[in-house]
Amino acid sequence: MATLQDIARRANVSVATVSRALNQSGYVRAEVRERVLQIARELSYVPNHLARGLARRRTDLVLLLVPDVTNPFFAAVARGVEDVLAGHGLQLVVGNTDDNHYKERTYLQRALGRGVDGVIAVAASSDSPDTAHFRQLQVPLVLVDRACEEVEADLVVANNESGAYHATRHLLSLGHQRVATITGPLRLKTARDRLAGFQRAVREWRLAGGQVAVVEGDFREDGGYQAARKLLDGPVRPSAVFAANDLMALGAMAAFEEVGVAVPSGIAVAGYDDIPYAVRVRPKLTTVAQPKYEMGAAAAELLLRRLADPLLPPQRVWLEPRLVVRESSVVRSITGQVVPPPEIPAPGPVGAPDGEPRGRGRQVP
Ligand code: RIB
Repeated sequence: MATLQDIARRANVSVATVSRALNQSGYVRAEVRERVLQIARELSYVPNHLARGLARRRTDLVLLLVPDVTNPFFAAVARGVEDVLAGHGLQLVVGNTDDNHYKERTYLQRALGRGVDGVIAVAASSDSPDTAHFRQLQVPLVLVDRACEEVEADLVVANNESGAYHATRHLLSLGHQRVATITGPLRLKTARDRLAGFQRAVREWRLAGGQVAVVEGDFREDGGYQAARKLLDGPVRPSAVFAANDLMALGAMAAFEEVGVAVPSGIAVAGYDDIPYAVRVRPKLTTVAQPKYEMGAAAAELLLRRLADPLLPPQRVWLEPRLVVRESSVVRSITGQVVPPPEIPAPGPVGAPDGEPRGRGRQVP
């Protein structure tokens, strides 16, 4: 029966490299990984799970890293992860990274020192070198919700660009000619993809730069409040705002209420995630429903498959969000007819919107 040493010898690499390639753990150049997997197949290599399990002292523990345990979005993802793992006798350890990749790295080091069988992570950052600790991981890794550059791991993501595009197009279709977005932290691919969806809709509706505002937020309620205040004081007073998550949308609604701008008659608001508060706030929040539980469950399934067969090629699960229109974006007459925004000036000059962010918390001039 072929061993790791046989593969290493034929591939002319170390046994450690072979192990990393087979376990999808740690960084291995793509061409080396492919050569190792091909040789493993040629030699009909079968991992010795029992020996591995004993050698690795399987703990039946999985670490889930999330950026903000106070955000109901991550609670729903964790629920999905736990329900699937529990069905296979595995238990969850949850680490809150506070959107901080240094804290994320420390969690990984300590958890691996104590022994976990795998890691499921909503990354604190998408960008290298912040993600280096994921590349050196010695246990299987599944990324959920946020992709990370230069990290080859199993991945579950929702279609953020499409979700943001449909939310923005909904606002524009109501007749809004001055629109703004409060983005997530732009170090996150999730936030960048949602900004891209907003900009695609704005381009399609041919809004000019003077009709578009972009303020970078932080996916937290107070960040939404602060960004909304900047929009209210800025050169482009929007009549509609798309916030890249619900917590920021709720913070923005509080800011608008504080200065007497009514939602939606004074300013329409749409969010993203569809957390439980979205239907408890008044007016109820128009938002993009993410398949939160399903994302967590799918991530756990991918990890179980990886634990059972390290030879699997990288696994991808791509889920679609869904626009949910509620009262925070649509003004209706007493007969229930949709009332367009107060002024609908002639279509603006054709031109690419200046929808590029100018740094944290600043409005695009
Ligand atoms: O609300 C937190 C946000 O960060 C969510 O939209 C989720 O997609 C995560 O990336």
